[in-house]
Amino acid sequence: MNILAVGDIVGIRAIEYLKKVLWTQRETYKIDFVVANAENASDIYGLSPNDAQTVLDCGVDLMTMGNHTFDKRSLYTYLDDNPDKIIRPVNYPSGSPGYGSSVVRVNGFRLLCINVQGTAFMTPLNDPFESVETVLEAEDGNYDLALLDIHAEATSEKYAIARYFDGRINMIFGTHTHVQTADEKILEKGSAYITDIGMTGPVNGILGTDSHAVITRMKNHMPSRFSVADGEIEMRGVIFSLDEYNNFKINYIRRIYV
Ligand SMILES: [Fe+2]
Ligand SMILES: [Fe+2]
Repeated sequence: MNILAVGDIVGIRAIEYLKKVLWTQRETYKIDFVVANAENASDIYGLSPNDAQTVLDCGVDLMTMGNHTFDKRSLYTYLDDNPDKIIRPVNYPSGSPGYGSSVVRVNGFRLLCINVQGTAFMTPLNDPFESVETVLEAEDGNYDLALLDIHAEATSEKYAIARYFDGRINMIFGTHTHVQTADEKILEKGSAYITDIGMTGPVNGILGTDSHAVITRMKNHMPSRFSVADGEIEMRGVIFSLDEYNNFKINYIRRIYV
């Protein structure tokens, strides 16, 4: 079984690009399921229901989110209504719109997908360790394999969460930094891990954002509205290959970019 995780989609042009390349990637690598982080798809600030539908039409099966989940008010009911298509970090306060995990079918198997947000250098949400643990306990017996998107800033926090759940969650990957790391590996107890899968967006800005706006904010300390950078787009992500005849043992984790 092959599962592709696609890095943070930044902007409408990135969605258009995904529409051009994703089905070919699915075919080339015999991908059975695509999970993509969509928190920046509607021009950095969140995701609109219309853009969510377009992302799904590109060949994405499930969208994960992050600190931009609630930027667009129009998404709130969409989150509630489509738990099999979109999840948001599980450690937002109870009562927040949407769901932090979902069990979906892939080739007849039950795949538990969990999204969690880091708390280092980010909003102090609920404890990510406890929040994921609670999902695993609640879903015990209801899934055959699992994946976790850790949406976080700090490499150390991502590693700590990954090591803590090593052997219990088959695929663990980071999002949010928009920069793909080169540390993909299989951990001691068998989980496949990478600190960040990267970005699907413009390569020439600053993490997908127009350079001028970012430099203005950092250098002059004046407010400036971020917009998506112009220029070339690329898609980055990782492929997880698992042996469904051997307890979903990881065959490999491989970085890709198109
Ligand atoms: Fe983020
Ligand atoms: Fe992002």
